[in-house]
Amino acid sequence: MSYKDVYSSWKSDPEAFWMEAAQAIDWDEAPKQALFDKGNGLYEWFADAKVNTCWNAVDRHVEAGRGEQTAIIYDSPITHTKREISYVELRNRVANLAGALRAKGIEKGDRVIIYMPMIPEALEAMLACARLGAVHSVVFGGFAANELAVRIDDAKPKAIIAASCGLEPNRVVHYKPLLDGAIDLAKHKPDFTVVFQREQEVAKLIEGRDYNWHGFQYGVEPAECVPVEGNHPAYILYTSGTTGAPKGVVRHTGGHLVALNWTMKNIYNVDPGDVFWAASDVGWVVGHSYICYAPLINGNTTIVFEGKPVGTPDAGTFWRVIQEHKVKSFFTAPTAFRAVKREDPKGEFVKKYDLSGLKAVYLAGERADPDTIVWAQDQLKVPVIDHWWQTETGWGIAANPLGIEELPVKIGSPSVPMPGYDVQILDDAGHPVPAGTLGAIAIKLPLPPGTLPTLWNAEDRFRKSYLNTFPGYYETGDAGMMDEDGYLYIMARTDDVINVAGHRLSTGGMEEVLASHPDVAECAVIGVTDQLKGQLPVGFLCLNAGTNREHAEIVKEVVKLVRDKIGPVAAFKLAVVVDRLPKTRSGKILRATMVKIADNEEFKMPATIDDPAILDEIREALQTIGYATA
Ligand code: COA
Ligand code: AMP
Repeated sequence: MSYKDVYSSWKSDPEAFWMEAAQAIDWDEAPKQALFDKGNGLYEWFADAKVNTCWNAVDRHVEAGRGEQTAIIYDSPITHTKREISYVELRNRVANLAGALRAKGIEKGDRVIIYMPMIPEALEAMLACARLGAVHSVVFGGFAANELAVRIDDAKPKAIIAASCGLEPNRVVHYKPLLDGAIDLAKHKPDFTVVFQREQEVAKLIEGRDYNWHGFQYGVEPAECVPVEGNHPAYILYTSGTTGAPKGVVRHTGGHLVALNWTMKNIYNVDPGDVFWAASDVGWVVGHSYICYAPLINGNTTIVFEGKPVGTPDAGTFWRVIQEHKVKSFFTAPTAFRAVKREDPKGEFVKKYDLSGLKAVYLAGERADPDTIVWAQDQLKVPVIDHWWQTETGWGIAANPLGIEELPVKIGSPSVPMPGYDVQILDDAGHPVPAGTLGAIAIKLPLPPGTLPTLWNAEDRFRKSYLNTFPGYYETGDAGMMDEDGYLYIMARTDDVINVAGHRLSTGGMEEVLASHPDVAECAVIGVTDQLKGQLPVGFLCLNAGTNREHAEIVKEVVKLVRDKIGPVAAFKLAVVVDRLPKTRSGKILRATMVKIADNEEFKMPATIDDPAILDEIREALQTIGYATA
């Protein structure tokens, strides 16, 4: 069947399409129906079924006689460690961990926060929660204590599972003080924590609250898989929105299993037993879907890579891993390739490795710039597939589905909508626009299985963020267009979200931090173009009248404040002091115009601008930090 056949078979009978896809899953009680319309724009999938994610990701492969196959390869150039875990070992390790969590009172529906670096134990912790029907929420290690505290207060976890440390090339990230700080800051207190002590750092445990990962599993009964309803939350993953309060994206169990399993063959073209590698982090959605769940559900070998594209030890690391572990399908963010390309533009490292097992490369997380795609195509000589998705959807909205048909690649486009997604480009009034016209990208409801049914404890915010603007549609927050052949082009965000090194960040959240500095009267944060990271945040500070301090000192303080409050991952290092911010007559800050000035792009003077002269001041300020120089 061609892509067109598959897409139209979905469109003509979505219910039959997803019921058929559901057959690849081991259900405790099979679904009789796929879609459940809850009314008012809310939908659920496979709500009448019973199933367990861990069973499908781990145990069933052991039962099927594939227990000796490697499930996880841990490759850590940072610690010079390599380790393989078979499916049967993984089953035993996860069952023991789940048993120990259960012995401490964790049950179906309880929330568990996981704060761990890229080590196999992070996946084991996720799977142990899934085994019990507990709802995990993984928090990325690059976030500071305050961000962790915000998530603790929203998810209200009974337990937190952490590691003693993470390892960045230039430093040890001390997780335990961050964890303790977050628990102190949070109003909600977990009953207990479990700490995986790494060789590189042994954290001090608080008696009666903190348990050692190994010690607390001693002598417990391993736990069996607990069947849960298809609409039981598998996890909550927080992502950046317009404000500093992150959105808790909920993932339901049944749809998650069905959709992710479907993608492995149809999009990524891998079969059980193949090695699949997503070089991301379990703290992000790519890590949830394509380091942990999808490859395991499909019976692949997944790689947990603790390293960076460059510097661990060199720009050949990716190719070494691909050769050594016989990776068939490789997924990363464009920024990682830009980092490699910058150090090895001619591909000298590529030539040193045998990459004959590699069949395709997938890029997502941010816009894939044409230079990077062409470089990757030239060097690797395999299809380089840009695909577009979001934390909210959990899997590709648009892609080139190599397992169905290799469509012609159009550079600059993540190709075509996947089955389940009726993607439309709308004007401000919500009417579809003709091919080639820019507009807001929206998806006709219902969204397919595996996507978010709501936000955690925030249905109103869910409606406001995604459903209210275009009734009957899900608003993606991205703007772009579709060409005559149905290929999508993703051009920009329509909100205050920026994308720094493939990491989604809220400029609104950073503004809240800047505004908390005692000398700052008003501020704005914009995302400017960066050759390596795609975008970088830049802060503009208007100081309180009478502030009589060195501007450089204040800038240093706000940079530190963002690092301490949000975390190093915000990559907030640039700020300037200005007298005023450009605004419309109604007082709205003209951030988009400021971005255009920084990036040396042409712009139309906003008709409603209050005082155009301010734009010259903004340009001059940007020039002091190396932007707006043309
Ligand atoms: N724990 C603690 N700190 C972390 C961290 C983690 N898990 N991940 C990143 N950080 C820190 C970095 O050490 C850096 O700190 P610094 O300011 O002290 O240097 C800061 O956060 C910014 O990190 P990053 O933006 O990732 O920059 P980098 O210079 O460390 O690396 C790249 C640049 C391009 C190599 C890197 O961003 C990369 O590999 N990106 C891939 C993107 C990706 O996987 N995205 C996931 C979505 S698919
Ligand atoms: P996240 O939720 O962190 O995965 O970020 C999702 C956002 O990243 C999307 O809404 C887009 O703005 C951007 N994004 C992800 N993939 C792509 C892509 N292939 N092309 C362009 N933008 C992308």
